[in-house]
Amino acid sequence: MTDTPNRADRPTLYERIGGEQAVDSLVDVFYDRVLADEQLRPFFAGVSMDSLRSMQREFFCAALDGPAHYTGRPLSEAHHGRGIETRHLRRFLDHLLDTLEERLAEDDVLEVISRVNRYVGEITGRSDSSG
Ligand code: HEM
Repeated sequence: MTDTPNRADRPTLYERIGGEQAVDSLVDVFYDRVLADEQLRPFFAGVSMDSLRSMQREFFCAALDGPAHYTGRPLSEAHHGRGIETRHLRRFLDHLLDTLEERLAEDDVLEVISRVNRYVGEITGRSDSSG
């Protein structure tokens, strides 16, 4: 059970974690960690981090039921053919987990991770999401 219907009396996950500013700074801190990781940094060589960050903000906003719609490419298209393996994905998600744990309540951390986990199969091209 990962789907919780949004009820009018309950703030969205996006609102609970602090809205636009919180998501923006979360993405910034997260990407600083990813780029500081020697095993992940090479994947981002030559990629415009400004546009990646703004795309990621949009993505997280949409994934957390915030107001913005994601306007980027499908994740499978953006990641296909880059040689991203499960071990890279795991490190990436570990950085995300560390970033979230520093900032959010435990329940919110778990919910964000479970949302993001839905997209895992599109990143490595596998259909399972076991990481
Ligand atoms: C669940 C995990 C992930 C999510 C939700 C995610 C999300 C995204 C999003 C939204 C974009 C922007 C797509 C666009 O420009 O239209 C992107 C681009 C990118 N991602 Fe990921 N990503 C994930 C994992 C990874 C991992 C593990 C790596 C590498 C180790 C990676 C490397 C990249 C690169 C290099 C780009 C830039 C593509 C380009 O601009 O040409 N991503 N990702």
